[in-house]
Amino acid sequence: MKITLIGTGNMGSGFAKQLNAAGHQVRLTGRDLNKAKVLAEQYSNVTAYAAPEALGDSEIIIVATAYDDAAGALQSLGNLSGKIIIDITNPLSADYMSLTVGHSTSAAEEIAKAVPQALVVKAFNTLFAQVLADGPQFSSEQTGTVFVAANDERAKQTATALARSLGWNVVDAGGLVNARYLEPLAGLNIYLGYGAGMGTSIAPTWLSK
Ligand SMILES: NC(=O)c1ccc[n+]([C@@H]2O[C@H](COP(=O)([O-])OP(=O)(O)OC[C@H]3O[C@@H](n4cnc5c(N)ncnc54)[C@H](OP(=O)(O)O)[C@@H]3O)[C@@H](O)[C@H]2O)c1
Repeated sequence: MKITLIGTGNMGSGFAKQLNAAGHQVRLTGRDLNKAKVLAEQYSNVTAYAAPEALGDSEIIIVATAYDDAAGALQSLGNLSGKIIIDITNPLSADYMSLTVGHSTSAAEEIAKAVPQALVVKAFNTLFAQVLADGPQFSSEQTGTVFVAANDERAKQTATALARSLGWNVVDAGGLVNARYLEPLAGLNIYLGYGAGMGTSIAPTWLSK
């Protein structure tokens, strides 16, 4: 798949590693082009671009910035008409222990309002960066889960195929409105990881009998 990845931080680095390993063609951009170049140099399938050149012919854009920076970062790419945006953000407070948006909306829905010509999918937001970078296998020989919520079926299926190509199980979490559940789920994961001391090698999943 052809993917534009925005962000060179914790999540951006994990995506660059895993997308490269899965053979996807990645156009990487960030606020600091040099950081993007340094990261891209590690991977044969990842190339760094300044924002105005970063879209190219990518069908998917992964936005791996803070929620507050996401709309501006997406808009800096140019024409997003028909593009699939994978929103991995969590709208966290400064101490990471609560959400700044929720209940009657979500980060994903607010981003969708900011880029109405694009198709927004909520996904990957419940994975710690350390888990993303390490990949989907857990020590208990379980495979981790990516929850996917979107209104557009093609966008959801594309995001599902992307997550599966990286080895993740996928749970269809319904429409984009259910980002209102997925973002607090990430909040609980952060509490358990940092607040309750379980560490960052954990991830939520769903079981079925
Ligand atoms: N870390 C996690 O475990 C985790 C897990 C799940 C979801 N998330 C979510 O994933 C997102 C990224 O988290 P992170 O931990 O990777 O954050 P991070 O390490 O701070 O990285 C954020 C990246 O976004 C870049 N950025 C900011 N504004 C930008 C803009 N206008 N254009 C292009 N790039 C811009 C930053 O550039 P600079 O380097 O110049 O600052 C940085 O490279 C957040 O929304 C977070 O809630 C994080």
